[in-house]
Amino acid sequence: MKNRKPLIAGNWKMFKTCLEAVETARQLVKLIPDNTTVDVMIAPPFTSLMPVSDVMKGSCVSLGAQNLFWEPEGAYTGEISSGMLVSAGCKYVIIGHSERRQYFGETDVTVNKKIKAAIKDNLIPVVCVGESEKERESSHTFSVLDKQVAKGLENFVSSDLETLVIAYEPIWAIGTGKTATSKQAQAVHQYLRLLIEKKFGNNLANSVRILYGGSVKPDNIKELMLMPDVDGTLVGGASLNAETFSKIVNFQI
Ligand code: 13P
Repeated sequence: MKNRKPLIAGNWKMFKTCLEAVETARQLVKLIPDNTTVDVMIAPPFTSLMPVSDVMKGSCVSLGAQNLFWEPEGAYTGEISSGMLVSAGCKYVIIGHSERRQYFGETDVTVNKKIKAAIKDNLIPVVCVGESEKERESSHTFSVLDKQVAKGLENFVSSDLETLVIAYEPIWAIGTGKTATSKQAQAVHQYLRLLIEKKFGNNLANSVRILYGGSVKPDNIKELMLMPDVDGTLVGGASLNAETFSKIVNFQI
């Protein structure tokens, strides 16, 4: 029996205009029962945060952002701070998504700074880790995760990370339709929990939520959620449609 409350999160990436985002959020709020037993979060693009926040007020769906910058304010054209995200209604922020690492030069060092900024403003960091196909095939999955966790969480103590969420997103499973099998996900999640235990102790290892991300759909959610160390999912493509995402959220019904 897991004592961690599952989190089902949707990452809308660079999809949806403001109007489309509001419409999807409206549909979603209707489709998710108020007494849902899981935490639910959606992360629209920055431009839709405020209007979507208004739609979701009073519902059980929380708002997240897809990125942030670590400075509180300043001459950083194009960047958004943690305080700004809070003011737009965010409770969560996704950090270090593989697409940001791949296309925008994000590193474990910048991930570390962003986590620090997020927790300072009481945003829940959803920190993404995961290996590429080449790294998996050459048996480097665990060493890649070792480094991402060691550097990404460097200089924190366990009390800093009480709300931490880790998202394991194998790059080869993102948007490809290739889901990691539930056994593959479980093996990695167990390993990640062990890493957290070694670094931060038993309490944090038991409470940290570890999500799986990569081609999660209504037809594979149940199997993934049966795994003892899978505490939820970070959903990309299948979160864009309210009906499909609500089926994932309502996987127990
Ligand atoms: P897909 O669900 O589209 O594979 O994307 C996963 C993801 O990157 C979520 O952050």
